[in-house]
Amino acid sequence: MTQQNLTYQKPGQFEESRYEKIHNVIFPDRNSASKIVAREIAQIIRDNDKKNKKTVLGLATGSSPIKVYEELIRLHKEENLSFKNVISFNLDEYYPIEPDDINSYHYFMNEYLFKHIDILPENIHIPKGNIPLEKVKDFCIAYEKQIAEAGGLDFQLLGIGRSGHIGFNEPGSHKNSRTRLITLNHITRVDAAPAFNGLKNVPHKAITMGIASIMPAKRIILLAWGEKKADIIKRTIEGEISSEVPATYLQSHPNTTFVLDKDAAQKLTRIDTPWLVKDVQWNKTLKKKAVVWLSNKTGKSILKLTDQDYNLNSLADLIAAKGTSYDLNIDIFNALQHTITGWPGGKPNADDTNRPERANPAKKRVIVFSPHPDDDVISMGGTLDRLIQQGHEVHVAYQTSGSNAVTDEDALKFLEVYQNLFPNNEIEKIIDFIHQRNQTQTDIPELRKIKAYIRRAEALAAVRFLDLPSENVHFLDLPFYDRHPLLKREIQADDVEIMQNFIQQIKPHQIFAAGDLADPHGTHRITFDLLLDVLKNLKNEDFIKDTRVWLYRGAWDEFEVYDIEMAVPMSPAQVERKKLAIFYHQTQKDNVMFKGEDEREFWQRVEERNKQLAEKYHQLGFADYEAMEAFKELKF
Ligand code: F6R
Repeated sequence: MTQQNLTYQKPGQFEESRYEKIHNVIFPDRNSASKIVAREIAQIIRDNDKKNKKTVLGLATGSSPIKVYEELIRLHKEENLSFKNVISFNLDEYYPIEPDDINSYHYFMNEYLFKHIDILPENIHIPKGNIPLEKVKDFCIAYEKQIAEAGGLDFQLLGIGRSGHIGFNEPGSHKNSRTRLITLNHITRVDAAPAFNGLKNVPHKAITMGIASIMPAKRIILLAWGEKKADIIKRTIEGEISSEVPATYLQSHPNTTFVLDKDAAQKLTRIDTPWLVKDVQWNKTLKKKAVVWLSNKTGKSILKLTDQDYNLNSLADLIAAKGTSYDLNIDIFNALQHTITGWPGGKPNADDTNRPERANPAKKRVIVFSPHPDDDVISMGGTLDRLIQQGHEVHVAYQTSGSNAVTDEDALKFLEVYQNLFPNNEIEKIIDFIHQRNQTQTDIPELRKIKAYIRRAEALAAVRFLDLPSENVHFLDLPFYDRHPLLKREIQADDVEIMQNFIQQIKPHQIFAAGDLADPHGTHRITFDLLLDVLKNLKNEDFIKDTRVWLYRGAWDEFEVYDIEMAVPMSPAQVERKKLAIFYHQTQKDNVMFKGEDEREFWQRVEERNKQLAEKYHQLGFADYEAMEAFKELKF
């Protein structure tokens, strides 16, 4: 249900939301949603202004509220919204941290909101991250008192962490908890690691308002964007109240709305398995999804599913439309079978009616876009190998330098070799910088350059191993990657121009690109948005009508089987070759800075993932392949 306003309704009121315990509204994207949230906040401020009352806002930081703040700034600048009568309380702050540190929430709030509006500095409250430990307790008590003296919170804006935290109330937080010093959960620190240039620089503690400080707010809105939040959103909205998922305490708040984009909402029962809660309009994808779900649930391959299996699992109307399970099973089986191909660039001289790619032209021009210098081999090394071996003109384009993910230790190794061969002051300067840098200092440009060159050399070695000619390797060095700070990364005209010129120059029949949407501010997400922009600009060009775009997933996730439109099987020897290609990315082995909470190396994760996908197909009744890579077509 997409709405234009967020009027609170009791959860579970309607049959389709009977699993849900928190009112929620789902929007197609975070931009439209954020505008409506900002409008609600503006309305509260204006209503209070009319009554000559101050408005007390509880504010959050992180990636989720950024667009809400942008819209509030616009309302201030263009529609006279004043914050003169607003008193704000921020939820939390890292501890210890200085307010001028670019990762502090003081810095964040100033950058993203306060410096653009007319709020009075004395009305701003943010927990202090730089007070001595022995004063923290008194500070927290005083913070609570200030909220009470301001008359309590009229409105509280929240994000949600993957640990289920609100504010920094991590799992285990009591419902009676108040503002206090807490220890950050491991997942929370991992999620913050990219901004801090590596996990080791993320503070272990934070000062946060408690559950009992948040709950008395008259109105609460929690924002969640992106599929990375989908699991925790389902647990929070549909699970039982538990201190293990502190956000579930919101189930007992009388006026809370969760504002979600469709990616964050995708695991809610009414979205994921709608047939369990309502009559559905069956389309092709939904049918595939239901049959694959039923096959997994019953543990039977598709062709063994019976009428009774459908009837006992809320899918009676699906076979009613088709007549019998027999016909439906065959339809879906064939549809999935047709996704499997060993010819990712199309099979020359073959009937292509039921193949994912066209047969003609037999030799295609192909661009493989790789956000970082190793996503190509990690995500589609087997397919890349086949495309090259099958004689297509393949171009690999690395979109960013990937320099952020090279450690100082690795850079030092190369610098020392160079220094021994050609002693030189410039190199000495970089070596000195590495030895004396402090944790929060970002790389000097010369060091970034060295790190970028290291990754270039690795990328080149990897695709050379796959027999790609060096002249078909392109380093686009898109400027967005080097625009700091991390959270502020955004597409600008120069990024679009570089990508667009490149596509125009190659005029590809096929584009392979990362379709990873898990992280709203990650590099993959930005390169995806960029591709969409560029395709829109190119839509009137002749060659583009003949271009197909295939999306792959990164190191973490895989498409669901029902969503896959091309599955490329790999033999054991091809899996081995892919692994060897990944090994050329030596700086990304063992000590990767941005690995996430998963301790396995990239190649292990991806090897397992490719094998699991083959197993999933096998369980549905298809041939028993060693491994598979998967793609989904982007219609543009
Ligand atoms: C921030 C805060 C946190 C974040 C949460 C989600 O002040 O209290 O609870 O809201 O960690 O962070 P993002 O929005 O970056 O995903």
